Amino acid sequence: MRVKIVAGNWKMNNDLKASKLLAKKIAKSIKNLPLTNTRVIIAPTFVNLERVAKKVKKTAVEVAAQNMHFEKSGAFTGEISASMLKAIGVNTVILGHSERREYFLETDDLLVKKVNTALQNNMEVIFCFGEKLEDRKSGAHFNVVENQIKNALFHLDSEAWKNIVLAYEPVWAIGTGETASPEQAQEMHAFIRQLVAEKYTASLSESVSILYGGSVKPANAKEIFSKKDVDGGLIGGASLNENDFKAIIEAI
Ligand code: 13P
Repeated sequence: MRVKIVAGNWKMNNDLKASKLLAKKIAKSIKNLPLTNTRVIIAPTFVNLERVAKKVKKTAVEVAAQNMHFEKSGAFTGEISASMLKAIGVNTVILGHSERREYFLETDDLLVKKVNTALQNNMEVIFCFGEKLEDRKSGAHFNVVENQIKNALFHLDSEAWKNIVLAYEPVWAIGTGETASPEQAQEMHAFIRQLVAEKYTASLSESVSILYGGSVKPANAKEIFSKKDVDGGLIGGASLNENDFKAIIEAI
């Protein structure tokens, strides 16, 4: 059975005090939930990662980084390496988020390097991709998603896919309050799974968790998660509130 995941991407929100408090509340609120085959991950900002990781160490909550540089070390002002993350107990990293692509000009070529570095360091990658509104309007959304996945991940061998989680995040649904309908999400997730099956094997593609991200809220989570190829969510805004986040986890 595929692993289900609810991951909270906190983006550039919460100072240290707020981060620790929210992490503690989330850990407490899910303590008694039956989380069989379900993982809960939170991704605070770099500067609060270590303290949050310590806070949730003995709980069911895992931590992830929101980004990472591909080099080992060196003159890369402002950047963070894989080994630095691993040294503070962070083994998962979100890569390819549309905000990184859009505001920090991250390209497929750059993402290949980041993915490779993360995997070489035995880290798990939550790889994000998704079309813009104009792509969907023009009917290019399947092509766009196909290229994003092919360009950044299809050089990997089958073994490497054990550490890949896919996150379909249509850009037009991120932080906009507009969500892909459950049918649109399912349609794209099934397309992605088929792509992976064609490149690798059906059994590999059946084992990959594919998350949906983009305005997931307590009110729509259950319906989206009920779709056969949707294995969880990558949550932005609603992950900043422990009650909403808990409700989304309960929905899965
Ligand atoms: P929202 O849930 O705020 O739309 O953000 C989604 C997202 O970008 C998660 O990475």
